[in-house]
Amino acid sequence: MESFSNINPNRYQSEVKYRFCGKTGLLLPQLSLGLWHNFGEVDDAQEALRMISVAFDHGITHFDLANNYGTPFGSAEKNFGQILKKHFASYRDEMLISTKAGHRMWDGPYGDGGSRKNLLASIDQSLKRMQLDYVDIFYSHRYDENTPIEETMNALSDIVKQGKALYIGISKYPEEKAREAYKILKQNGTPCTIYQGRYSILSRDIETEVLPSAEENGVGFIGFSPLAQGMLSDKYLHGIPENSRAALSHGFLKKEQITQEMMIRIAQLHKLAQKRGQTLAQMALAWCFQKEQVNSVIIGTSSVKQLQDNISALKNLYFTQEELEIIHSI
Ligand SMILES: NC(=O)c1ccc[n+]([C@@H]2O[C@H](COP(=O)([O-])OP(=O)(O)OC[C@H]3O[C@@H](n4cnc5c(N)ncnc54)[C@H](OP(=O)(O)O)[C@@H]3O)[C@@H](O)[C@H]2O)c1
Repeated sequence: MESFSNINPNRYQSEVKYRFCGKTGLLLPQLSLGLWHNFGEVDDAQEALRMISVAFDHGITHFDLANNYGTPFGSAEKNFGQILKKHFASYRDEMLISTKAGHRMWDGPYGDGGSRKNLLASIDQSLKRMQLDYVDIFYSHRYDENTPIEETMNALSDIVKQGKALYIGISKYPEEKAREAYKILKQNGTPCTIYQGRYSILSRDIETEVLPSAEENGVGFIGFSPLAQGMLSDKYLHGIPENSRAALSHGFLKKEQITQEMMIRIAQLHKLAQKRGQTLAQMALAWCFQKEQVNSVIIGTSSVKQLQDNISALKNLYFTQEELEIIHSI
């Protein structure tokens, strides 16, 4: 593995600014780096190291993981842990590291869902893979209708009380279940800090209920897949390139999602972005910040070039009313 020792001393003077996570005292960088794809065993280890390093050099302090990230599952946490230990060991207190459990991770009845059994085992496995004593945020990755919500929430509270996580998050919970979760966690003395949900120009469901209820409860919001896994960029305008997420057998973006109808909309957005002097990826990221309840968005990148392109999006977050209406109509 390539070695480097020069960490940018001016990393907190970059384009990346910080926003409070809901009504908590926790500051989130506007852009966070997600390790779902591109950081596993099957991926380019050098590029993964470079992306983490360039992100940190630009003030991106938040790295988002989950037990099942990477191919095979767990390999993103393992690789991230090795990179941290080798290159960033003395920077742990400048980093915000999150992980999650709740999607299928290991075989048998206990490797999935929101049971106490699954969550308590999973946090220990994640800490071991990342060689950490604690994570900053531990999430229930999804709502599990087969487990009483009290059981899931009490397990999360216990993880915090055991010192294995500093803050609690929930991800993709239906709004009424999120409200229940907020209430139980508050009663437990370990309030929910953050809601993680899908958010992009193409995915705006959370605007109507999830965002208002998070705000009402002082809970922050972080959006994931702001580029709709890469569709909101110029990459698929002329077909599906080799090595793109849609072309990979282990990628979650399916070729069937790249429809002709979708590409017509993407081409219209691309045109608007060009008029603004941005790439489509940059415009799509900038757009996410139009709602002030969006405290951060988690980007996934497969190269340093994409990461730099995305950081530059923060140079222009301003939209005219007309531009917003065009985006809405598309
Ligand atoms: N809570 C949850 O259930 C959940 C679910 C999904 C994601 N997440 C989190 O959110 C993170 C981000 O999700 P995501 O990876 O789907 O985010 P995304 O930013 O929507 O998509 C990332 C992909 O877009 C392409 N891309 C990125 N920047 C680009 C640029 N400047 N130009 C052209 N293409 C660009 C790359 O595709 P190529 O690989 O094709 O180059 C990259 O892999 C994940 O890593 C994870 O941490 C959470």
